[in-house]
This record gives sequence, C-alpha cells and structure tokens, in this order.
Amino acid sequence: MKQPRPVFVCQECGSQSPKWQGRCPDCGAWNSFVEERAVEPVAVAAAAGHRYALGGGSQGAVRYSEIESTRAERISTGIGEFDRVLGGGIVPGSLVLLGGEPGIGKSTLLLQATANFAHSVGPVLYASGEESEHQIKSRGDRLGVGDAPLYLLAETCIERILEEVGRVKPKLLVVDSVQTVFSLKFQSAPGSIGQVREAATQFLFTAKGHNIPTFLVGHVTKDGNIAGPKALEHVVDTVLYFEGERHHSHRVVRAVKNRFGAVSELGVFEMTGAGLKPVPNPSALFLAERPQATPGSAVLCCLEGSRPILVEVQALVSTSSYGMARRMAVGLDQARLTLLLAVLEKRAGLHLVSDDVFVNIAGGMTIDEPAADLAIVSAVASSLRNRPVSQGTAVFGEVGLGGEIRGVPQAALRIREAEQMGFTRIVLPAANVEAGADAMATGRDEPRAELVGVRSVGEALDVLLS
Ligand code: TYD
Ligand code: MG
Repeated sequence: MKQPRPVFVCQECGSQSPKWQGRCPDCGAWNSFVEERAVEPVAVAAAAGHRYALGGGSQGAVRYSEIESTRAERISTGIGEFDRVLGGGIVPGSLVLLGGEPGIGKSTLLLQATANFAHSVGPVLYASGEESEHQIKSRGDRLGVGDAPLYLLAETCIERILEEVGRVKPKLLVVDSVQTVFSLKFQSAPGSIGQVREAATQFLFTAKGHNIPTFLVGHVTKDGNIAGPKALEHVVDTVLYFEGERHHSHRVVRAVKNRFGAVSELGVFEMTGAGLKPVPNPSALFLAERPQATPGSAVLCCLEGSRPILVEVQALVSTSSYGMARRMAVGLDQARLTLLLAVLEKRAGLHLVSDDVFVNIAGGMTIDEPAADLAIVSAVASSLRNRPVSQGTAVFGEVGLGGEIRGVPQAALRIREAEQMGFTRIVLPAANVEAGADAMATGRDEPRAELVGVRSVGEALDVLLS
C-alpha cells in the first residue's frame, strides 16, 4: 500500500501545505500548522464501504421535471422551541451541528430531545466522549428520561461508534462532542482539524446513507467560533448556536445556517433544576423586570428570524470625569452606537461630547437589526434629558445619517406582538404606516394600539419624551 504523504494543516482555517510554515498564508495565524496524515477521500469512502447516495445516486443525472417532489416530513423533538429553530422538526437524514460554550446546556437539551424522540419514534444512540454512561444517566434521572429506548455509549473512536450504529440501528444519533472523537485513520489528536473534518464526513455518510438524522455537538473557541469552522459548517445541513450568559437562566438557540428552514430563527429556553424549559413567550421574560417610568429605558420590538420579541433597551448618560468620554455598548454593535450618537448630536441638537454613554440590552440579548436604532436613540435621549419614555409605548425604526427614520421589514408582526403584550402606543417609521402596517395589524383582538408614524429623530423624540 502506498504510504500516505505527510501534510501540514492550519488548525485555524484548515488550509493545507506540503511543508511546515510558521504563519498561515491564508488566515495569518501564527504557529498553527500541525502534521496530519493525508488519506485520499475516495480511498476512505471505498475502504469504509460507504455508499453516499442521496436517493438512487447511481443512475446519474435526472431531469428536473422527472423528480417527484416530496414534502420533507418532520419529526418532532417534543420540545416546541427546539422544533422551531430546526425549521419545524428533525428532517430525516439531516446532519445538525449544535455549537455553544461549555456548560451552556448542549448535552442537557439533546438528552431531553432524544428521550422524547426515543419514546415517540424509536431507538436513539447517544455517543458521548465527555461523560460516562453513569454521569449521563444521573443527569437523565433528573430530566425524567424513564425507560425510553435510549442507548448510551461512552466512546471516542468513530469506527467503534459506527459499529454500534450498525448493531443498535438507531433512528437518531447524537455525537457529543465532535472535538472528542477520533478516527483510527489519522494520527493527529482528537479536536485537530483533520479529525474534526473526518468525523463530520463519516457521520454525514451515515446520516445520508442510512437516513439517520445526526446531531453533532461542537465546542466553541474563545473567539466564538466552532473549532474547525470551515470544515464543519460546509458539511452539515444545519448549524445551531447556543447563546446565553452564565448569570441569566435563559438560553437562546439560534439557527445560523439551515438547509431546511429560515435562518436566524430562534428558540428560547430557561435553565431550571429539571433541565431546559421552553419559553413560549420570550417578550414577557425579557420585559419582566422593566422599571416603570424611569428615564433611559425604551421598549423595542425586534425581529429574530420570523419571530417578533420585545426587549428593553437601557441607556445611561452621565458626565464624564475623564478627559475623554466613554461609549459602551452591551448586546449591540459598538460602531452602530457611535454612529447613532453622532446623529443625535448633529441632527437632534443633543450635547453628548462630554458625557459617558452606556447602552445595554436587558436580559443578555444581542440585537443586530437596524430596526433597533430608534429605541437606542430614544433611550439615550431619555437618559440625557432625565425624562422617561411615555408609558405603554413601544418603538422600532431605522435611523439614517440624515436623522431620517426609515421603514423596516415586517412591521405588522412587530405591531401585533407589542399589542399582545399590552402596549397601547407604538412609535414607528411613517413609511411603515403609509405602507399599510395599520391595515395589516387589523383583524385581531381589541384593544388596538395607537400607531404614531414619525419621519425624523427630532419628531420621534418630541413624541416619545413629551
Ligand atoms: P450541559 O448540558 O452539561 O452543558 P454543555 O453540554 O453545553 O457543556 O449543562 C450543564 C449546566 O447546566 C450545568 O452548569 C448545570 C446546569 N443544569 C441545570 O441547571 N439543571 C439541570 O437540570 C441540568 C441537567 C443541568
Ligand atoms: Mg456537554
């Protein structure tokens, strides 16, 4: 047999080189090359006896019109919020990557989902390279797994896991985590990019070839990426990220890539003594501790995927005691805040140069929508003028550099959510009111909120802080 040639692989970006290099020419990382044994991918597939065929692949190309359209069936995980991020449930044969920081609840969520799945559909194989069967069981006892056909396997060797897949014939496979498993074909350590890529490819073959939906757990590096990001995100069908702060009990699962559903769809959970509990009404959660009639607080209707959520934007403007005023943004983009402060300064005549400005999205949410602009601006102005935003008012709208308020997508959805949460007045871009947001919001229960369309920052602040 031909000796495999050595190859050096950048552990940051997956770039390959026949010789060692101090600095990766592709991503610029230093000292990131590690020697790995290259194996021809075709040889790997042949050796493992895999047939990677997505529905009769051996017949060659098929004419578009001759392909029967099948509506992808979905299998529920029994957890509504999880189904929602997956785009309506598990797609047969799909490969899903669930990423997140250690201790955030990845294993907990998957154990809950697999227990439900095992109860309603059939056997599930849960392969863990991180915990022993006993550890998983003691957690499962707290989560009420019961006697569902859930098979636990504490194993890190991919070939062994695949052997067990052949024996157990599961309807669902979980690999926790992709960074702890290794293939015998490679000499590099588990977690190296070669091993991670091999694991993803092998499990892709099983998922598609045997129609076993597979969840891979992925750890997130310090800078927030799943280790071996390029190698993994291209291979899998769906990438979900677990977000949340240690200091808050709520967790958000967000879809960043989904071949079977909308991206940036999100599911909200609360970590309790008995595992993760879905939060069907996140607006109530995020607004729960909102202070009443306090300056520097504005309620924003933001949109996450197809889901409107109300969050509180808080601002604090205080006289700077240093030579240079500080601007700090938590949960939103720092550059966006700087831009909005400049607009306030220039277009609305607010004097902020000598003040420190802190803006925070309450509850640890992260917002990156331009529709949040108006709420940020109102919270800052409210704190500066020491006047609360009028009661029962929610806002949304994008602020342009000219101080104009621009329309945002899905105004009707946002309005409906605010009305459902009991807001009686909504300040929004005039363009949205003209485009018929008003009409779209009709046909729902009374009382309807008053819609106030605004065209400029100055006008909005007059309405909000009067
Ligand atoms: P875990 O799912 O092990 O995290 P990951 O797999 O992402 O590393 O979650 C562990 C955390 O969740 C741990 O800090 C304890 C907490 N937890 C609860 O609060 N309640 C529970 O019922 C369980 C199972 C865990
Ligand atoms: Mg875990």
